[in-house]
Amino acid sequence: MSNTATIEIGDKKYEFPVIEGTENELAIDISTLRASTKVITIDPGFKNTGSCESAITFLDGEKGILRYRGYSIEELADKGSFLEVCYLLIFGELPTQEQLAKFHKDIKAESIVDEDMKRILDGFPKSAHPMGVLASLTNALVAFNPSSVNVNSEEDMYKAIVKILGKFPVLVAWTMRKKASLPLNYGNTSLGYVENIHKMMFHKPNEEYAVDPKVIEALDKLLILHADHEQNCSTSTVRIVGSAHTGLFASISAGISALWGPLHGGANQAVIEMLETIKADGGDTSKFILKAKDKEDPFRLMGFGHRVYKNFDPRAKIIKKAADNVLGDLGIDDPVLDIAKRLEKVALEDDYFKSRNLYPNVDFYSGIIYRALGIPTDMFTVMFALGRLPGWIAQWREMRLNKEPIGRPRQIYTGYTYREFKEIDKR
Ligand code: CMC
Repeated sequence: MSNTATIEIGDKKYEFPVIEGTENELAIDISTLRASTKVITIDPGFKNTGSCESAITFLDGEKGILRYRGYSIEELADKGSFLEVCYLLIFGELPTQEQLAKFHKDIKAESIVDEDMKRILDGFPKSAHPMGVLASLTNALVAFNPSSVNVNSEEDMYKAIVKILGKFPVLVAWTMRKKASLPLNYGNTSLGYVENIHKMMFHKPNEEYAVDPKVIEALDKLLILHADHEQNCSTSTVRIVGSAHTGLFASISAGISALWGPLHGGANQAVIEMLETIKADGGDTSKFILKAKDKEDPFRLMGFGHRVYKNFDPRAKIIKKAADNVLGDLGIDDPVLDIAKRLEKVALEDDYFKSRNLYPNVDFYSGIIYRALGIPTDMFTVMFALGRLPGWIAQWREMRLNKEPIGRPRQIYTGYTYREFKEIDKR
């Protein structure tokens, strides 16, 4: 394979280098295209555009491979812990026991938020969607913490990272507790990172806190599966907002807003709502398959399809199995799990879905587990955000350390050409 690509425009030929990643992916480096040709590329939805070089996450959509820093998602979900994965994604290597203990200790030291944050939360109506509240609270953290990070100082960078890893779960828990009319509490620093999150979310003021270890195991696994997914919509948002040298917390707040959308993380809530609708309608899955195929009908099969995975989503495979295990372990019989399985079977045998390579994605079964763990439906996307936090941090850090330029795409203008201004009485 030649390591240059030739572009012909009119009677002129231009050569551009072809770069290769460690997994042999190829890209034409067009960074000098406009300067040398006056021409730009256009690629709506960035379907063919690499926005950066990154050493964090590799995914092969055709083969259904997902790896964080070289480690397979299957092995990490099976043998790793969420906190280890946070460390791995952000700093590039699995931690030693000492490194992990120090990391956890430093996070715990930062796991209190300013009391005034409660007044901000108080201002939201109970009806507010938790994702909107979480994005606002995350941005509000900036008011109580240094707004910018000196990225040239490893210590400053580390401090900002442990701060957000410490405080974000408190915001997640408070967002849920406010809706549930529970007092805003804190965790317990003697607990593991994920168990502490669970306690902050669920502990009732009049009960001893106790949890089935299987619940923590399931939650840990779900968080690992969501921890990073290279340049998806919310991560690209975090990187582009951060490329203006916006601080870490504000960049993450922007990522939360991007994740909220039903085509992205919001799909996990939309899936359960869809399955409930099918159940209430009598459970006829084929009717909804027909709706999803009808181009006149805006209905889409939520939890199906992916921009990159065109064979299967490895996360969905793990989550489907975990859904079976968790419901079995906890003795829960949720009829929507059967509807989901039937829907998947029908869709996978249908030409419409087969020809378009549409398979269940990470969101198809995750809501069923969240529900079994007692998490309210409108908190599902918040749980996704909690899992994605280390990925956003890692990608933001990488972008700043690589000194990437401010993200600023171009456009092809299709509006009016010059028009003379007419005074209002002449219009
Ligand atoms: N149901 C019915 N048809 C679909 C679906 C679906 N879920 N997804 C894609 N299609 C069709 C689409 O109509 C199009 O058909 P045609 O070629 O006839 O016009 C074709 O498949 C290609 O779809 P696309 O919208 O061009 O693909 P995309 O890469 O732009 O979108 C997607 C990917 C994930 C936004 C889309 O598949 C979708 O909307 N899925 C449902 C929402 C969802 O589950 N999102 C979660 C994604 S995974 C987790 C995450 O990112 O947060």
